[in-house]
Amino acid sequence: MNQSSQIPTNITPRFAKKFGQQVVSWYHQQGRKNLPWQQNKTPYRVWISEIMLQQTQVATVIPYYKRFMESFPSIIELANADEDNVLHHWTGLGYYARARNLHKAAKMIRDNFNGKFPENIDDVVALSGIGRSTAGAILSLALNQPQPILDGNVKRVLARSYLVDGYNGLAKFDKTLWQLTEQLTPAQDTAFYNQAMMDLGATVCTRTKPYCEQCPLQYSCLAKAADLQIQYPNKKPKKKIPEKHTIMVIPRIKDKQGDLVLMEKRPPSGIWGGLWCFYEIAALEQLSELLTSVNLKAVKQQQLSEFRHTFSHFHLDIQPLIVDCLLANKQEINENNHQQWYNLHHENNVGLAASTQKLLSLLKSMITSTKEI
Ligand code: ADE
Ligand code: SF4
Repeated sequence: MNQSSQIPTNITPRFAKKFGQQVVSWYHQQGRKNLPWQQNKTPYRVWISEIMLQQTQVATVIPYYKRFMESFPSIIELANADEDNVLHHWTGLGYYARARNLHKAAKMIRDNFNGKFPENIDDVVALSGIGRSTAGAILSLALNQPQPILDGNVKRVLARSYLVDGYNGLAKFDKTLWQLTEQLTPAQDTAFYNQAMMDLGATVCTRTKPYCEQCPLQYSCLAKAADLQIQYPNKKPKKKIPEKHTIMVIPRIKDKQGDLVLMEKRPPSGIWGGLWCFYEIAALEQLSELLTSVNLKAVKQQQLSEFRHTFSHFHLDIQPLIVDCLLANKQEINENNHQQWYNLHHENNVGLAASTQKLLSLLKSMITSTKEI
């Protein structure tokens, strides 16, 4: 049984104890202790940090985390906030479903748990956007509950320590690593141990160039012994992702307030769900229909260079098209929940996708560099 994975599926309690002690003692000497979410730890504060850290590096997260906590210091304040405002705090972090799920989960906590973060792991896993590892991280880091975790960093450390074959997301690989983390996670000092494992993965057992001579696990690590660090976790077989193409239409008008561009709010699901974006068309022939539908008349148009935005499951080649417009029928500018004129001279408190933000900075720099339309 189990021929392809070489790991001992049963770790002796004696070895687990030693492994835990080495990791915890490394934490006291080398682990990170001064990050903003490590100060006055509460499940709420740790939760927000764990969600931000899921796909984003610590250094990037810090300023976002501080702004978020200043605006939403408690679960209730987050739950009662406007979704646009929550997404605004996420602009630039990517993976916006994280922000929508946070907001949804805060409402669940407000409505079902009197605003107090639940302390039972099954209740935590039932919240939107929180998986088993994140739930374990929140309860262990904030409350020192003995919960194992298994994020990407921990997976790498364990896969190397035990030469576990497979790659992230492969069911058998994840299952074996969960068994390992369950057996190795100590019942005491779990907060220190889990934080140390994440820090080790992030700073010592790095993906391309692990610093094994600084690692507390270097004398037992199987990958180090066999000089196979870089081969673990194994490479995920590459699948070719499709290329899609879109034209982003940027209707622009000059108004007494300055230059305004028209944006629409996306439906809540799908890419950029709930974010403000430019209108999209598949082909230039659809431009006049779009403009008519929003009561605009084109005066002049300009195609900017195409650029590529890559999502996890496809490439999106974006062709920006600026269309200088006049309001048809001399009517007032029209705004509603799904459509707004974004003033290029102001900061606006709404959530924007990275590519929208990129186009906006370009449009803003065009105002400062030329005055003509
Ligand atoms: N990545 C995810 N959670 C983390 C944490 N608490 N510390 C460092 N890196 C992390
Ligand atoms: Fe990673 Fe090297 Fe430590 Fe093994 S010894 S866990 S490969 S850093």
